[in-house]
Amino acid sequence: MSVSNSIVTRRRVLTGMSAASACLIARPYPIGAGDPPPVVVEARATGIAQLLDPPGPTTAVWGYDGRVPGPVLRVKQGEQAFFRFKNSLAEPSSVHWHGIRIDNAMDGAVPLTQKPVMPGETFDYKFVCPDAGTYWYHPHMHEFQQLARGLAGALIVEEREPIKVDQDLVLLIKDYKVEADGTLTENFGTLFDKAHAGRIGNVITVNGAHEAIFPVRSGERVRVRLINASNSRVLKLNIPRLSPKIVAIDGQPIPPRELYAGGIDLPPAGRIDLVVDMLEAPGSKLELVEITRDPIRIAVFDYHATEVARPQPLVAPLALPPNPVGEPKPGPDALRLPLLMAGGAMSQMKGAMVHGHHVPMQEMIAKHGLLWAFNGVADMGHADPLFRVARGRTVVLEIDNDTRWPHAMHTHGHHFKVLKRTKREADPYFWDTLLMDPGEKVDIAFLADNPGKWMLHCHMIEHMLSGMMAWFEVT
Ligand code: C2O
Ligand code: CU
Repeated sequence: MSVSNSIVTRRRVLTGMSAASACLIARPYPIGAGDPPPVVVEARATGIAQLLDPPGPTTAVWGYDGRVPGPVLRVKQGEQAFFRFKNSLAEPSSVHWHGIRIDNAMDGAVPLTQKPVMPGETFDYKFVCPDAGTYWYHPHMHEFQQLARGLAGALIVEEREPIKVDQDLVLLIKDYKVEADGTLTENFGTLFDKAHAGRIGNVITVNGAHEAIFPVRSGERVRVRLINASNSRVLKLNIPRLSPKIVAIDGQPIPPRELYAGGIDLPPAGRIDLVVDMLEAPGSKLELVEITRDPIRIAVFDYHATEVARPQPLVAPLALPPNPVGEPKPGPDALRLPLLMAGGAMSQMKGAMVHGHHVPMQEMIAKHGLLWAFNGVADMGHADPLFRVARGRTVVLEIDNDTRWPHAMHTHGHHFKVLKRTKREADPYFWDTLLMDPGEKVDIAFLADNPGKWMLHCHMIEHMLSGMMAWFEVT
């Protein structure tokens, strides 16, 4: 396989991520006197990153603790996490803990669950993570700009009894739009990006590096946590020559399985945990490649010259312990609702409801910057909820992607199962962010067991910004 990146250099080795992990001394809920101090997570507009291939120019970015990606935050399943968000940006922000079935007040979803955190202010996020797995955090305010500038980080919820691996690697993958002089392209949320596939960067980074290198040893078993923190890019990833096993999707364990034929599709905000047995000879190089078009090498697993001495090689089970996610019961008692997605470039949509009035498409675009609609409403995020449901009931959404574009449908506070779908295998897993193909119909179901107001949107940020946003309430 030909790859387009040039020679691997040690300079691209990423050192920041594991060393900078914030370790949290967690205790059971609730917090009281004598509890551990918060881990401070500060959004700063003063970061510098080597996004272009060295020795190219560096790029000014925004980052948590001034770095891209932000620190890897680690918490233990079922224990109290306490993060103090400090906003040192010149504009309001918030932190959303993506995929956590969290207390509603801690969801960071501005304006639904909290007010914006103003410049100079702090906000305390205290919550328990009921599920172990790979999650991430990002602003839920002006994401089209703040996420594109770099504000994103990994949140790892550790199993009480993790599977045995020699290394546990976090690969936060994120694209950026960078000019040749190293500056970020300053056109956030353009009409073109909204109408098409969203903001697609020209550089794909892993842990903030143009090409990240991970030292491994022949004989090692490595857990690889893939996170797509791009604004809108769908990644198609492959690890040629070896056959890694997928052990979790969106944080939730699945029965270990082979990669999908032709690689893994990872929508923006999606996560996949792999277990890779490094079976090649000492001194080899194993590549992680993005294969949507011409293959691009985005990371290298660089084998040490010697093997790992292992008396009982690679026999430990791969299956992760289950998480306590409630099973949906899509029977006659379930609340069934259609969700029609329409709009975007090349659509037949004539118009949609905005502020309670029908507005023709031209005016939607020109006056409101809106291009998409859910069930004929383009500003549902600011209008009535898509539905209200009593706690404990199952919700079935019959989603019809009547557009020419893929979308990444995301539910806050809940993970859903796919009941059926028309363009792919309906795998019986839990998701929080599902890639839907153009023209695809997908029925999803979840147990509405987390009270509060929850967003439901396309995680292609420019789509969410221009109409693909709704919310629901569990009462
Ligand atoms: Cu990453 Cu509204 O979500
Ligand atoms: Cu979308």
